[in-house]
Amino acid sequence: MELIQRPRRLRKTESLRALVKETRLTPESFVYPLFVCEGDGIRREITSMPGCYNLSIDQLVREVETGRKVGVRSIVLFGIPDHKDATGSQAFAEDGITQRAIRAIKREFKDVVVIADNCLCEYTDHGHCGIVERGDVLNDPTLDLLAQTAVSQAEAGADIIAPSNMMDGFVAAIRSALDRSGFDQIPIMSYAVKYASAFYGPFREAAQSAPQFGDRRSYQMDPANGREALREAALDVEQGADILMVKPALPYLDIISAVKERFDLPVAAYQVSGEYAMIKAAALQGWVDERRIVTESLTAIKRAGADIILTYFAVQCAALL
Ligand code: PBG
Repeated sequence: MELIQRPRRLRKTESLRALVKETRLTPESFVYPLFVCEGDGIRREITSMPGCYNLSIDQLVREVETGRKVGVRSIVLFGIPDHKDATGSQAFAEDGITQRAIRAIKREFKDVVVIADNCLCEYTDHGHCGIVERGDVLNDPTLDLLAQTAVSQAEAGADIIAPSNMMDGFVAAIRSALDRSGFDQIPIMSYAVKYASAFYGPFREAAQSAPQFGDRRSYQMDPANGREALREAALDVEQGADILMVKPALPYLDIISAVKERFDLPVAAYQVSGEYAMIKAAALQGWVDERRIVTESLTAIKRAGADIILTYFAVQCAALL
């Protein structure tokens, strides 16, 4: 048969395939999420996320070093305080767990990009991402606390602030507070498009941040909505976001791709705890090939348009590259 077009010609050998590869994973574009807790010498594995830990500050520093050795130079930090209250006051305490952890990391490694997750749910006793009144999460009063938290994180040495709580106007509030405090050079990575997702289940065990009543659907997005994602992202761009994040990642590749298409800011995607847990669970059963499935899913996320990928597989995957 006379076939002129034969795509298989370029798939013949490993070297040919590498030559025409369109998407490459690089350790520098990974962000490694880490959970820091009080105490000393603590490395407590998270049941629903095998291979991930609650780490005390000393152990956290070691984990950052492990990542750095394989080229992962960015981390996103989640603090788990011992003391939680109605306003999440440990989120913006000068000696809060996150602030101390940031200082410890920056003291050891000047070249590591420390991204501070900016939210209240790990710090409130009710587990919601803002101030609660009569069962309602209040928007504007919460903004003041987020802004205060951002400034305290910047003062501790955070390189990027990543607000994740989906209050309306959170980027503007944080931008202006940072600017007023002399941090006009600190970028904001906005969780611009964050869905109310069941894929966050294991994270809530890791961060002990499950809402004690109700759910987050009055502030996080409906998974059914795609056009609304672009509206959310546009608002954050107007308010001064420097990086736009989509979260979760693999079930929302269409959204990553649409955001990439529409905006010219760097796009980040968060492969969340549930995505991690599903792969781990199946791999532990021997039902899927873990290495291949990790590389394939991260490649898919990058191919869809993510410039930056937040993933619990960051270090494991970087070691394979
Ligand atoms: C805080 C926050 C959450 C995640 C990141 N930041 C939890 C939530 O919104 O309930 C989820 C990350 C993950 O599942 O890996 N608001």
